[in-house]
Amino acid sequence: MNPTTHPDFESIVLSEADIQAHIETLATKLNEDYANKTPLLLAVLKGVYPFLSDLTKKLNFYCDVEFIAASSYHGGTATTDWVEIYLWPRMSLKGKDVLIIEDIIDSGLTLKKIKQKVQSEGASSVKLVTLLDKPSGRKTKLEADYVGTTVKPLFLVGYGLDFQEKYRNVPFVGVLKKEIINMNAKDYPWRNN
Ligand code: IMP
Ligand code: MG
Repeated sequence: MNPTTHPDFESIVLSEADIQAHIETLATKLNEDYANKTPLLLAVLKGVYPFLSDLTKKLNFYCDVEFIAASSYHGGTATTDWVEIYLWPRMSLKGKDVLIIEDIIDSGLTLKKIKQKVQSEGASSVKLVTLLDKPSGRKTKLEADYVGTTVKPLFLVGYGLDFQEKYRNVPFVGVLKKEIINMNAKDYPWRNN
């Protein structure tokens, strides 16, 4: 894919350089706050994978990494109140300093449910780290402890964020053309190859 443009995108909201600058700032704060700790990073699949990879390379404390998966979007562009957690670590969270790592917080419903479950399993601390925060989308009271950057109420795609499970591999974050979003499913560009 071309690193700076893509034919399906209407605009770029965060370039690769913007994203890396936000990650650098987040890593600096985390390196201060967790200098003498060994936290467990709980990464929320799937959208978090590029962020997790870039962030963890900049962390200089010992840490464990585990994955969780939850679903609330079902491939569309609007969130629902229904959240299902379908992957959870086997290890005990008791006594752990947990850092939940997310790509984006919109309604907050997914993270609220995950945070409650982490707390109920006896973690000694739980903090939320998100690359992107869409505070205007909140349906519940939830604040992240570490936010890369706040974004407008737009449906964003790229750098892990998907539309119909596609575009996660695009290196920037942007907005898709309306003709792609509104396209009849049989005409999606990936159906032709
Ligand atoms: P929430 O439960 O509404 O906060 O949504 C959390 C999840 O929905 C995120 O981890 C993303 O996977 C997905 N999501 C939220 N906003 C967007 C977006 O703008 N584009 C793509 N996925 C999104
Ligand atoms: Mg996510």
